[in-house]
Amino acid sequence: MSTEKKPWGGRFERSPSAFLDEFGASLPVDSRMWAEDIRGSIAHARMLARQGVISADDAEAIEAGLSRIYREIRDGELEFRIADEDIHMAIERTLTERIGTAGGRLHTGRSRNDQVALDTRLYLKGRTLELLRAEFALRQTLLRLAVEHAEVIMPGYTHLQKAQPVLFAHHLLAYFWMLSRDAVRLRAAHDAADVMPLGSAALAGTTFPIDRASVAGDLGFSSVGANSMDSVSDRDFLLDAAYACTVTMVHLSRLCEELILWSAEEFGFVTMDDTYSTGSSIMPQKKNPDFAELTRGKTGRVIGDLVGLLTVLKGLPLAYNKDMQEDKEGVFDALDTTRDALVVMEGMLATVRVNADRMFAAAHGGFMAATDLADHLVNAGMPFREAHEVIGSLVLRLEREGRTLQDLSAEEWVAVHPSLGADALDAVDIRSVVGRRTSEGGTAPAAVAAQMDRCREVLAADGQWLDARTG
Ligand code: ARG
Repeated sequence: MSTEKKPWGGRFERSPSAFLDEFGASLPVDSRMWAEDIRGSIAHARMLARQGVISADDAEAIEAGLSRIYREIRDGELEFRIADEDIHMAIERTLTERIGTAGGRLHTGRSRNDQVALDTRLYLKGRTLELLRAEFALRQTLLRLAVEHAEVIMPGYTHLQKAQPVLFAHHLLAYFWMLSRDAVRLRAAHDAADVMPLGSAALAGTTFPIDRASVAGDLGFSSVGANSMDSVSDRDFLLDAAYACTVTMVHLSRLCEELILWSAEEFGFVTMDDTYSTGSSIMPQKKNPDFAELTRGKTGRVIGDLVGLLTVLKGLPLAYNKDMQEDKEGVFDALDTTRDALVVMEGMLATVRVNADRMFAAAHGGFMAATDLADHLVNAGMPFREAHEVIGSLVLRLEREGRTLQDLSAEEWVAVHPSLGADALDAVDIRSVVGRRTSEGGTAPAAVAAQMDRCREVLAADGQWLDARTG
């Protein structure tokens, strides 16, 4: 039996064992919300005093006590004990031990059910902004890399088979747009957390004449929860954050997979900086892209965090259930991992070497101009299906002969089809192939330059959104 006196001790003759105390505790996970817990309690105490529910003297004693606890935790001077169960009780117990009766008045009109919802929402608002800043920096670096290598041509793939040549910048900027959508999802998670639950008490509201709007104003929330039962059992904002992290990680994982492939000798498109590589303990020649691999690997855990939380919530009756204490560990892990991965990827891309010659060589001298040749025949009046057949047989023949489209002379082109000749030489030139794809959102240099302008506009707008919320 635990020797600790519980705050609900009045109704009990015996307490759970020390083992059960530990099993039931969330302190190791929720202690990181200590600052939010104290902010929330100070706002609550001030409001209680304004409403005449507690005296101004009590509110002052509470605020002074909590401020001291804040400084002590910040400076690593205060230790919690697992028997406190969670950060809410740890702080309240410490306060009451120090200031006596006034501390005992803090929990008036409040429950840990609305308190934990408040703390988690405050915490999430801060963390989503932190992730958005890291994500913004990564997009800036992607755009810079694209601009620096605006002329570089590489093979574009479908089915990981060479398809059509593209600008390396175009390929990189595909990730810019993925991350821009991730920013939209992260902002949605931020906004979902921006609703103030305090005052819902255990589930039904409270008999005290509280003023919820003033607490929301004090704590910087945009609105107040409309239904006390929903407010204490809603964890959608955590799902939103976990989902935003998951999709971001899936995008980073795809980028990592490409960087890993591209740095393999067989591709040789990029060289990872030494600072983002590791060696082998046995094979002296090895240079491994560990950090890209790890980011790809950690994505699995973040996906698990989302699925785990969905599974916890599925089938829970209203309102609060202790199951919900399991909501934080996975989401905190998802936030930490995604933030770190964004920082790692920014550094990796800022230092990667781009091997333009290897990329161009891989794009040139194959069959990637085949679509353009077929288009050429279509322009000369041939139906596309027939043109596809003519060029397809040409590719088959050349492959057998060990030659490529670039090896044919003007006379040989005419033999393929009378409408082809010297102009076929231009049709199969890889730079021309890229340059012809001028459609909006296409890979021609002019289209990619226009795309870069759009990237700059998006960054400017997203930067403004962040600045408006960063103190
Ligand atoms: N530690 C709890 C959690 O994280 C706080 C709320 C507990 N409420 C309760 N009635 N037991 O969910």
